[in-house]
Amino acid sequence: MDTIPVSNLKDRPRPPKPEEVELRFSERAVKELEQLLTHYPDKKSAMLPALWIAQREYGGWLPPEAIAEVAVRLQRSYAEVEGVATFYTMYHVGHPIGRHLIEVCTCLSCYLCGAYRIADYLKEKLGVDWGETTPDGMFTLEEVECLDACDRAPLLQVGDQYIGPVTREDVDALIERLRAEESPTTIRLADEIVQAQLHASDQEKVRG
Ligand code: FES
Repeated sequence: MDTIPVSNLKDRPRPPKPEEVELRFSERAVKELEQLLTHYPDKKSAMLPALWIAQREYGGWLPPEAIAEVAVRLQRSYAEVEGVATFYTMYHVGHPIGRHLIEVCTCLSCYLCGAYRIADYLKEKLGVDWGETTPDGMFTLEEVECLDACDRAPLLQVGDQYIGPVTREDVDALIERLRAEESPTTIRLADEIVQAQLHASDQEKVRG
């Protein structure tokens, strides 16, 4: 089975020039960004939530166009926004990811409890390696550092859910459940984070 190859940041398309940037945020996204901006002293400070909005609006990842749009909307340079987006692993830059991102912790506790056996099973079942996406665009598999729930090792994360201690049977059930999901967990997670940030900002305002 052919797989979508692991992308290299060096291979990604050239970023658009500022004058070529097509602003694609939905009306809702524009309103959310405007609301968030009222809670920060300057536009630059809203970069992280703006990137979450962009990740949701652009289908769960940040293509160069998304980074360029955030740069235009926050009046920052492309390089500055890209620098922030590539620093944090929860932003997906460089290649699209599937509807569902399955993150496998392979740090010490999970490693000792069989994380690589689970990872091998997932790789075989999905026909992909680390960083790859299944040809149908459904699943991306990533190896991640400690997810801070070592008592549940071996642990997987999908969207905002932890699954662990995970077994092969759990993997089977998970894949089946995710295939039936109507909305991509990658986009849902981005939206949940945007909504949490809007809520947190409102709470701050109430507290004064
Ligand atoms: S080592 Fe896997 S959650 Fe900590």
